[in-house]
Amino acid sequence: MSAAAKPSAAVQVAELRRMREAGEKIAALTCYDASFAYLEDRAGVDVVLVGDSLGMVMQGRNTTTAVTVADIAYHSRLVAPFLQRAFLVADLPFLSFATRERALDASQRVMQEGGAKMVKLEGGREQADIVEYLAVRGVPVCAHLGLQPQLIHKVGAFKVQGREEAAAEAMLHDAKVLQDAGADLMVLECIPSSLGRRITEEVHIPVIGIGAGPDVSGQILVLQDILNISPTVTMGHRPRFVKNFMEGAPDIEGAIRAYVQAVKTGAYPAPEHCFGDAVPGPKALAGAGPSTPASLPRSKSHAHPSPRR
Ligand code: KIV
Repeated sequence: MSAAAKPSAAVQVAELRRMREAGEKIAALTCYDASFAYLEDRAGVDVVLVGDSLGMVMQGRNTTTAVTVADIAYHSRLVAPFLQRAFLVADLPFLSFATRERALDASQRVMQEGGAKMVKLEGGREQADIVEYLAVRGVPVCAHLGLQPQLIHKVGAFKVQGREEAAAEAMLHDAKVLQDAGADLMVLECIPSSLGRRITEEVHIPVIGIGAGPDVSGQILVLQDILNISPTVTMGHRPRFVKNFMEGAPDIEGAIRAYVQAVKTGAYPAPEHCFGDAVPGPKALAGAGPSTPASLPRSKSHAHPSPRR
């Protein structure tokens, strides 16, 4: 068999680390079923996430909080068999990692029943104990900092995180603490590009951004957002970091390939997809909340504000 004909080896944590070191961008995308899993894998997506965004894009809810471990295990089970190369990460949903025991049970389910190779959990230094508990037991963990959609009922609204100096410093500290606790990967959601760069420079694990600027190890988006089929996107409410990859693509696989290519070459995210440092004044903040009528289902990213600066 010629080298070119060899099937690519399955992506593992070590390969993600190598990609970060080599400066090769990691293309990550959410996925919830077999058909798309097959296409994403064939299109060269490196990391596939069964995210709790499924509560919005699959179940039509307004938040992610109703998603259960059983939901994540079920969708992971649909996706896992169709990934030959891509690395499967599964979200731990709201409250499923509230204690060490719950976190271990949830991880066991999504890995053993679902076939995931890593779990992702939202939160800062307060989760370090859980991350360490899982990591030392052989559960690879992806941390998730910045905007944390599972906190919606506590914080009331989604907005760009880490713009104030103190908040940026705290997030940087959280990132280091979670890394030291054993996290092997990190997602940064909706933060200024400058902070995305700073955190990426100061930790040594791969950092995947969603609205965190270009200077991170890779990008992740919600599948339905790049295909322009999330209800609110099709109604014209597009978060700043979302790009419609169906534009100019011959078909769905072409759109996914275009996304992978754009991430790999650095063409995505462009400046118009990124957040600056400026803290919006009261007027801008007032206009930054979700513009979708509450009765409409919103994808996770659509529940975010889409500030234009
Ligand atoms: O649930 C999800 O889809 C996510 C990504 C957007 C990072 O957490």
